[in-house]
Amino acid sequence: MVAAVPFMLVFRFLHILAGVLWVGSAFLFVGFIGPSAAEVGPSAGPLLSVAVKKRKAAKVITGLGGVTVLAGWILWLHDMGLYGLGTWVTSRFGLVLTIGAALATIAAFEGSIGVGRNVERMVDLVDRVVASGGPPSPEQEAQIEHLGAELEKWGKIDLVLLVLAVTAMSTARYW
Ligand code: HEM
Repeated sequence: MVAAVPFMLVFRFLHILAGVLWVGSAFLFVGFIGPSAAEVGPSAGPLLSVAVKKRKAAKVITGLGGVTVLAGWILWLHDMGLYGLGTWVTSRFGLVLTIGAALATIAAFEGSIGVGRNVERMVDLVDRVVASGGPPSPEQEAQIEHLGAELEKWGKIDLVLLVLAVTAMSTARYW
């Protein structure tokens, strides 16, 4: 069995490092890169294509969310083992952490499907438009508009969930 201090060092480090990278990159993508790309239109295509297809930005962000959530639930189980389920989830620290954990877990699924996958679809579509050399067909234009609206909606929901989760995580021990 791994001793408690090294265990906590490793998992808290992984949890918090992956968490800050996840939330920071989601904030940058949803708050700045997405809206800027929507503003400049298809000329943003090549940059987004390299970021998303070659450098796998969406998959890396999803992976960071996965590491945060997995390490978080391992820490949660460890703490539950120390206190016992009843005492842990009814303590203020345990309850606020559990609420934050649930919100972050929902954000990880919602973000990977609503944002990550839709960003990849959008990049594929814009790549096809750029490769055709002409303006987008009416059908492609409608698809781009639809995907853009989905990305905006799910991106905003993702950020709200993440801000609430970080608020709970960062303040849990002081309630
Ligand atoms: C938005 C993503 C998340 C971020 C940025 C984050 C950040 C943090 C931070 C900064 C702490 C330290 C709190 C303190 O010591 O007072 C913490 C602790 C903790 N987090 Fe998260 N967290 C996130 C998601 C999750 C998820 C999904 C879980 C799943 C259960 C989780 C479970 C925990 C647990 C159990 C602790 C307490 C560890 C201990 O006993 O010290 N977190 N988190």
